[in-house]
This record gives sequence, structure tokens and C-alpha cells, in this order.
Amino acid sequence: MKFLQLCLALVGLQYVTAQNFYDKNADIAELTPKTFDKVVHRTNYTTLVEFYAPWCGYCQQLKGIMKKAAKNLDGIVQVASVNCDEAKNKQLCAQYRVEGFPTLMVFRPPKFDLNKSPEDRIRLGNHASEVYKGERKLRPLVDFCVSRVKNYVNRIQRLEKLVDTLSAKPNSRLKAVLFSQKEKISPMYKSLALDWLGAIDFHVFLNSKLRDSADHLKKLPNDTKDLFLTLQETQVESELSKLVIFDTETQKHYVYDGSSFDKASLWRFLSQWAQSREGPFTKRQAYLDGVKSNSKKVRNKNKKNKAAEENPHDEL
Ligand SMILES: *[C@@H]1O[C@H](CO)[C@@H](O)[C@H](O)[C@H]1NC(C)=O
Ligand SMILES: *[C@@H]1O[C@H](CO)[C@@H](O)[C@H](O)[C@H]1NC(C)=O
Repeated sequence: MKFLQLCLALVGLQYVTAQNFYDKNADIAELTPKTFDKVVHRTNYTTLVEFYAPWCGYCQQLKGIMKKAAKNLDGIVQVASVNCDEAKNKQLCAQYRVEGFPTLMVFRPPKFDLNKSPEDRIRLGNHASEVYKGERKLRPLVDFCVSRVKNYVNRIQRLEKLVDTLSAKPNSRLKAVLFSQKEKISPMYKSLALDWLGAIDFHVFLNSKLRDSADHLKKLPNDTKDLFLTLQETQVESELSKLVIFDTETQKHYVYDGSSFDKASLWRFLSQWAQSREGPFTKRQAYLDGVKSNSKKVRNKNKKNKAAEENPHDEL
């Protein structure tokens, strides 16, 4: 009997000291009650959270998939985890009614009404949570998370409507328009809209729809009209996308002429005209990196990035 108790005690001890799965993973944030709200709720991003216990076999099997999913979702959906075996996390796991391991939960932010003035917009409330019940495989999990990204990108269908949107209006937000051949709005473009939510409005317009009467362009300021006349010649049949920022107040526009359409490049272009709250090189990102790395070494590395992060214009 004594021997059995000793064994149980030893096994118990092993549980207590069991390592977090993702402490050393740069893509997944191991959360605690201290960091959970800030990471999951104080954001316009969707977050995938795995509630797990290190001893659970299904959790161990999922580990590799989680790591790959987090790489796939980088910059689009936040990925985090909570070790429910840790005494300090037990309350948190109970709060979200975690009953079995692993439990995969997707947290989705509330929608903002951007037509209201910033003061009248409700403060970012808690996200709605939803348990993932699909297959514990990479593709279905990633697809599910991407489908839960809030979309603030507006598709404009007709040239006339686009002209209306871009005609001079004082005190209105900057407008980004992506002229593209693709019907589908990419998750990355949606994530840019999240980074500049309330600062830049994001639109997409199909290249082929530029092929409409130039009469519609009359309302535009001269410079903008000239841009559209050029686009009607060069962009209609193009397979390439073109991103343009319009400032309807000053009647200026800025065309992105970089060759790569990765997030960091676009981010640098956009940050010339408006400050983003989330996304690469922001304070928020530095905070997230700190939570993810959870180690002194990487924290110091982040400190070095501080200068760049405080003045994103230095990045150009
Ligand atoms: C989310 O977007 C709203 C609307 O513009 C903004 O007021 C808020 O600050 C954003 N939240 C974060 C954490 O960036
Ligand atoms: C715009 O162009 C038209 C015709 O080319 C010209 O008459 C007009 O003065 C221009 N407007 C401005 C504000 O430059």
C-alpha cells in the first residue's frame, strides 16, 4: 500500500513538472491568466486556442499539427495554448468549460460599426468562443480558422460605385483599393484591413470591371481620373494585382510599385500614410512575440527591434 502511494506520488510529481508543449515555439503563445485576456480579447484578430494537458495522448498527437497550423496561420489568425495541468491555469480552463483534452477553441472578435464615430464605437468586448469539432488534421483546422477571420474588406462591383467611393469627401478615411483578377479576397488582405481598422478602408475591385464607360470617371479629381484612364489601358487584362491608396481629402493617390505582395512589404507601404494598431513592427506585435518566446534571449532581441517599431517609417 505504501509502495503504491509512493508510485502515485511520483507520477503526480511528474505531472506537476511536465513542460509546456510550446514554450520554445515562436508561433504559438503559451497563455496564463495573466496574458489570456490581453492576447485573446484585446485584439481585432481571431485566435485559435488549444487547451491541453501534457500527459494526454491525443494532445501529444496534435502537437505537430498545431505547430504546422500556427506557421500556416501566421499573420492571419493568432495561435495560442493553455496548459490546463498547471495549477495557475486550472481556473481559466474551468471558465471556458474545458472538459476533455485537447479542446480546440476559436475566439472571434465582435464586429465594429465603422460608420459610428470612434467615441461611439463600443469598446472591444469579449470575443465569441466556438469549439472546433472538425477533424484534428492540418487542412480542415486551418480552413476553419481562416473562415472565422472577420472581414472588413468591401468588394465594389461597378466602376460607377467605385468612383462614388473615391470622389472627394472631407474628413473621411484613407481608402485602399486592390485591383485584382481574383474573385476571392485573400486572408492576408483581410488581415491588413484588421491592422488598419478604423484608419484605412479596404476595397477590392475586379480588373475586368474597369472596362466600363469613361463617362463614369467625370466626377473624379483630374489626377485620379488620369490614373483610371491608365488603368483602363493597362490593368483590365492584367493577371497582376495593383494596390492603390486614395486620400479623398487631399485628392492624392499612391500606387504600390513593389514587386512582392507579401505582408511585410505591403505593411511598409501602407504605414507611410497611417499608423496601424496591430500587425508587424507594432507594439502589439512586440508584446505577442514576448509572450510567445517566453525566454530572456528572445526578449532582448525584441528590445533591439524597439527603435524600428516606434518609428515604422525607418523601415523603408
Ligand atoms: C480594433 O478596431 C477598433 C475599430 O477601429 C479600434 O478602435 C480598436 O482600437 C482596435 N483594437 C485593437 C486592439 O487594435
Ligand atoms: C481638370 O482638367 C480640365 C480639363 O483638362 C481642366 O479644364 C480643369 O481646369 C482641371 N481642373 C483642375 C482642378 O486642375
